[in-house]
Amino acid sequence: MHKPIIKKIAYLLKKGDFILGKEVEIFEKKFSNLCGAKYAVSCANGTDALTLALKSLNLAQNSEVIIPAMTFCSTAFSVIEANLKPILADTGSLSPTICLQDLKKKINKETKVILPVHLYGSVANLNEIKKIINKRKIHLIDDCSQAHGAYDDSHINKRKIGSTTDISCFSFYPGKNLGAYGDAGIITTNNFNFFKKLRKLRNLGSEKKFVHELVGMNSRLDSMQAIILNEKIKKLPKYNYKRQKIANFYNANITNPKITKLKYSKSCVFHQYVILTNNRIKLIKLLNNKKIPYSFHYPYAIHQLKVFRKSFRNESFKNAEKLAKKSISLPIDPNLSKKELNYIVKTLNEF
Ligand SMILES: Cc1ncc(COP(=O)(O)O)c(C=O)c1O
Repeated sequence: MHKPIIKKIAYLLKKGDFILGKEVEIFEKKFSNLCGAKYAVSCANGTDALTLALKSLNLAQNSEVIIPAMTFCSTAFSVIEANLKPILADTGSLSPTICLQDLKKKINKETKVILPVHLYGSVANLNEIKKIINKRKIHLIDDCSQAHGAYDDSHINKRKIGSTTDISCFSFYPGKNLGAYGDAGIITTNNFNFFKKLRKLRNLGSEKKFVHELVGMNSRLDSMQAIILNEKIKKLPKYNYKRQKIANFYNANITNPKITKLKYSKSCVFHQYVILTNNRIKLIKLLNNKKIPYSFHYPYAIHQLKVFRKSFRNESFKNAEKLAKKSISLPIDPNLSKKELNYIVKTLNEF
């Protein structure tokens, strides 16, 4: 993996084609092909991808954007960065994506965007969301930052995510299923008008040097990250498959009734494998003792984040709160060995 990257970077240093260069164009092509989308516009990170996507819609200030109550802070921040208003809907009781019943309740005439998140790599039911939107003028943008290469199971032709909504946004933060060696992001769409607008918005409103048509962001992908991503994308299907094998192993072998498994979408790509337990403190102690790494995704739902406590003070989202309080993310590194997996499962079953 590293040798071809180093060779290409050495060549880039000679050429000096550092920002939005040839390698960036190649990556945009490769990524849109992976998703089956017509267009891809790379940018500096996943937060910017969401912000740019929302800005490209040209909505009136404070138009409402419905997002799930359990997601990474960036989903909500991007809405505010685009001068829009985030409205929260709960997640499912055991599914980590937006609850369709709660989503329906949150739609009103101010709703201009529904922004589901394919949390943990589990794909939201986009087809049902499209049915809910029906003929209303509501855009569908999906946050795909945790689900590179996953299928939209709900699509009649089983297309990949990144190609089945108005605009899709991805992060290539290093720990993602497809991660750069620094910050990077991309936006995909089948809509030529959004594509043209996004190309300008990410580059200070300009496609031609010194011709600035819009107030844009400085959010460009640099060629070094593109070189890395052009190499790493080749292994994405293999690594997603390995993640799915690990998840299947956990599903089949974790039998402890004190642990509740979540319901993931059929072709989930398992950015995380998350379980629930009523006795998280005890389980954390055990995992620490056994030197098994773990994490939380996330310890706070959006309305519980310090920055948002006032804005959402009268609201509660019981499923998102349950995830925040009771969830633990287990190791899901695609290179985990059978021995390591057996050790993790044995420990969990003895808890
Ligand atoms: C669901 C979700 N949305 C948005 C982001 C933001 O991406 P980035 O860190 O590249 O800005 C991330 C990743 O961290 C994420 O997991």
